[in-house]
Amino acid sequence: MANRGSFSGKIGFILAAAGSAVGLGNIWRFPYLAGQNGGAAFLVIYLICIFTLCFPVMIGEIAIGRKAQSDAYGSYQKLGGGKWGYLGLFGILAGVFILSFYNVVAGWAFGYFLEISFGNLLDTQDFGAFFGTYINNVGIISVFSIGFMVLTALVVSQGVQKGIEAANKIMMPALYAILIGLIIYSLTLPNAIEGVKFYLVPNLSEINTQTLFDGLRQAFFSLSLGMGTLMTYGSYVDKKQNIVASASIISIADTSVAFLAGLMVFPMVAAIGAYDVQGPSLVFVVLTEVFHNMGPTTGKIVGGSFFLLLCFAALTSTISLLEVPVAYLVDQKKLPRKPVVWGVATLIFVVGIPSLLSQGKVEFFSHLTFYKDRDFLTFISDMCDLSLTIGGCMLCIFIRGKWKIANMNEELSIGNPGYMNSYLRKYVSFSIMWTCPILLGILSLLIIFDKFVGIEYIFG
Ligand code: PFF
Repeated sequence: MANRGSFSGKIGFILAAAGSAVGLGNIWRFPYLAGQNGGAAFLVIYLICIFTLCFPVMIGEIAIGRKAQSDAYGSYQKLGGGKWGYLGLFGILAGVFILSFYNVVAGWAFGYFLEISFGNLLDTQDFGAFFGTYINNVGIISVFSIGFMVLTALVVSQGVQKGIEAANKIMMPALYAILIGLIIYSLTLPNAIEGVKFYLVPNLSEINTQTLFDGLRQAFFSLSLGMGTLMTYGSYVDKKQNIVASASIISIADTSVAFLAGLMVFPMVAAIGAYDVQGPSLVFVVLTEVFHNMGPTTGKIVGGSFFLLLCFAALTSTISLLEVPVAYLVDQKKLPRKPVVWGVATLIFVVGIPSLLSQGKVEFFSHLTFYKDRDFLTFISDMCDLSLTIGGCMLCIFIRGKWKIANMNEELSIGNPGYMNSYLRKYVSFSIMWTCPILLGILSLLIIFDKFVGIEYIFG
């Protein structure tokens, strides 16, 4: 086989996969979902989803990639034959759509990082209005989104080891360092303890079916599961490595960053008592006001660090998202990596234009009549979340019905000789045969129903 590239070793793979997992999902989306869904109660549901549904799927996904040594399409095709390759294509397509809207939000973060660092943002008084106007300034947001996509493409075009691995080896430690620094600072703010309580004391009255759906889709999204990212990264891993151990570290790394992001954000929310600010604007509006209140110098340093953190997190994820279609075209169509990277990056930016225009700029995209008047970015993000749970369900069906559990276990015991006789093998095998496909199948159907009709018709 032509030289596809590979990670240099265990650390390179783990950092890259953790980099894919840790992203806007952890720092931008997790805190606001937790805030909307009863704080710690959401955390508990999220952890249950990670352990029962995501962890086994992650192991299966990496195992398929390493066994087949191919991209998402090629892996399914190689191990399953027939029409199974289409499942890989479905994932690749989902990845293209995820990156299309993700890059827009990354553009907001990149813009805020530059604005705060140069001081403009801190001059405003009404942060909500500023945010609304800012993300509707299509010219500026296009520039930042293109800038972000260019950074992503520059890394991916360098290949697996010199690009993806090297970038993650710098950005991931930096990300942790900034996060820890910001948490320490945040906990010294007035009222910090109130924020921590809001975050960590469960508010059971706010748990409902929505909490369950939000927990599940967030867990899948956060771990980058169900669309072939970890399959593609797994295909760059050598046979010496212990997949189960790596998957454990990746899951723990991702979950801890989501947890810590909440610990950083809620004391800041408490500092200005802005508990009522909900949804996607949480970090952009509330935190920016907190940075403003810190005074010009501290505000610039702390605020700049926060948005730099957000950019690093986003970039390590966009890199992995771009790699999935690129690997497909390089492996299957035998095209050269560099031109493919730039071509795909351009195409995905274009696919993202409706998301970019959907924050009020263009009425049609801002209020979709067929989607309960919600905006296009929310629509596409919801559909992508759904594709991930469907992808996860199908992955289990594939392993169970086609590739066979015994083959998966054989692959998993390479680099992990004790695996065959472990309880973990029983747990993972049972989950992939029963728990995951059944629960993911039911939940995917309920999510479809909820999104287009409304779950209240079933559960009242
Ligand atoms: N896991 C990333 C996040 O939490 O922001 C998003 C993501 C990256 C989802 C890669 C899916 C993916 F394949």
